[in-house]
Amino acid sequence: MYRPRRNVVTLGEFIIDRQADFPYAKGELSSLLSDLSIAAKIVNHEVNKAGLVNILGEAGSENVQGESQKKLDVFANEQFLAALASGSECAAVASEENDDIIIFDGTSSAGKYVVAIDPLDGSSNIDVNVSIGTIFSIYRRKTKNMPASMEDFLQRGYDQVAAGYIVYGSSTMLVYTTGNGVNGFTLDPSIGEFCLSHPDMRMPKTGSVYSVNQGNFIHFPEGVKRYIKSCQMDDKANKKPYSLRYIGSLVSDFHRNLIKGGIYIYPPTLHAPKGKLRLLYECNPLAMIAEQAGGKASDGFGDILDVQPEELHQRIPLYIGSEAMVEETLQFLREFKDENVHPSLVTQL
Ligand code: AHG
Ligand code: MN
Ligand code: MN
Repeated sequence: MYRPRRNVVTLGEFIIDRQADFPYAKGELSSLLSDLSIAAKIVNHEVNKAGLVNILGEAGSENVQGESQKKLDVFANEQFLAALASGSECAAVASEENDDIIIFDGTSSAGKYVVAIDPLDGSSNIDVNVSIGTIFSIYRRKTKNMPASMEDFLQRGYDQVAAGYIVYGSSTMLVYTTGNGVNGFTLDPSIGEFCLSHPDMRMPKTGSVYSVNQGNFIHFPEGVKRYIKSCQMDDKANKKPYSLRYIGSLVSDFHRNLIKGGIYIYPPTLHAPKGKLRLLYECNPLAMIAEQAGGKASDGFGDILDVQPEELHQRIPLYIGSEAMVEETLQFLREFKDENVHPSLVTQL
């Protein structure tokens, strides 16, 4: 008998297919992921026409870190909040764009999950038509029989039940994990669906790309300086010198390194002694994806996912990517830790 078949697996189909893998209530996490993917499509639509409509430029407000917001940051934040608020699974959201957590439903019977999100990552690239992204992290609430609270967000990265990102690039992709491997979906604009394009993504054990804002070199810890210098050595056996690739959108740099192999570094600097990136909605979700794909993520001392957060917008140094490359960086950090003299005394190599 003739049976018409199609090869495409949509994100919605895939989520339902894999529900059995979820550690907790299955339908709830499925529907959260689906809410996020709907907001992603709306944001994608707006990102694509950013050059056409009068949406570029500052929104005139500052976020909690004192950084100026672009209009698209505000738009993306609103879309993700609206999508999550419209479902009943998410009790509260922590967003880069909001000082405090947003509690959707102040009742004890509110949803069982909370979401931390960077709605628009790499926002300095909006005006110049360069890839940007969204990063999200999903936790099960710790609080019970009461409204969600800060306690629900201050959980270690290892407690995430799911994490993912969307990269709005030459094509738009959604990549996520529920702790059972990493899968990537490319948006087919003709049907408006994310379709499975990168099943079971694995990060190469090593690579030949390093990503760091080398303009800050003078203010880096000695170990980071030495590692960067080693990346530039003529060492064919180890594929060195590496290529430097730095987009300035964490999601895009991470995505490239996930596929091709590489390391992304945002170390502490003189002006940002705790680094720049945020633990809850930038580092933890990408660290979960990295580890699930066979990569590694560290703050220079231990696993990012092992860090107990103390505040919502906490910053932390990040060394993330191919396992062997992160390990090598950590060796340099250990070897030269005593040379991390006061930053005003740092020397140029
Ligand atoms: P955001 O746009 O969400 O504030 O994040 C920007 C982050 C990250 O995406 C990027 O890798 C990094 O800032 C770039 O920082 P520098 O310009 O200091 O290199
Ligand atoms: Mn960001
Ligand atoms: Mn952002």
